[in-house]
Amino acid sequence: MKKHRSLLTFIVIVFVGGFLLSFVTVQDKVASAPWDIPEKYQKMENPYVGDKSLDRVGKILYIKHCRSCHGNTGEGDGPKAASMKTEILSFTSEKFQEEADGVVYYQSIIGRDEMPNYESKIPEEEDRWAVVNYIKSMKK
Ligand code: HEC
Repeated sequence: MKKHRSLLTFIVIVFVGGFLLSFVTVQDKVASAPWDIPEKYQKMENPYVGDKSLDRVGKILYIKHCRSCHGNTGEGDGPKAASMKTEILSFTSEKFQEEADGVVYYQSIIGRDEMPNYESKIPEEEDRWAVVNYIKSMKK
């Protein structure tokens, strides 16, 4: 009888423990907090606005550097997105599309926390704006 009881206790512990652990591991992502964008960037003009000749390079750079997290169509569903703690906004969303180009430049090139910095990986101004133009062209 005593033996059975300890076996039962063991089973209960395994089940209850596993149940509780599932809450710890499957956590929700941290909601995207507002960005603190320096004024210089907020006021920054896009010198390449509407420049179609940058479409191709923008797409190539996006595929190389950004797609793994932000996904093919900018929905924030790339293969690496699942391991991110912070929520990624969709580039097709109204909220994102309404952002000033200089704000998007700051977010894309300077970054913060889990959003990497691309200052050295994308050193040319023209290429940086090509990526900004590309993600701002992502509409539903
Ligand atoms: C390793 C994954 C990863 C890669 C690669 C990545 N990003 Fe991000 N990005 C994130 C995460 C996570 C956030 C949300 C960060 C936050 O809110 O603190 C983010 C946020 C952004 C934002 C602000 C909008 C939003 O979703 O919150 C822009 C714009 C952005 N990324 C552009 C880019 C561009 C352009 C590239 C490629 C040059 C790129 N990202 C590459 C993970 C990534």
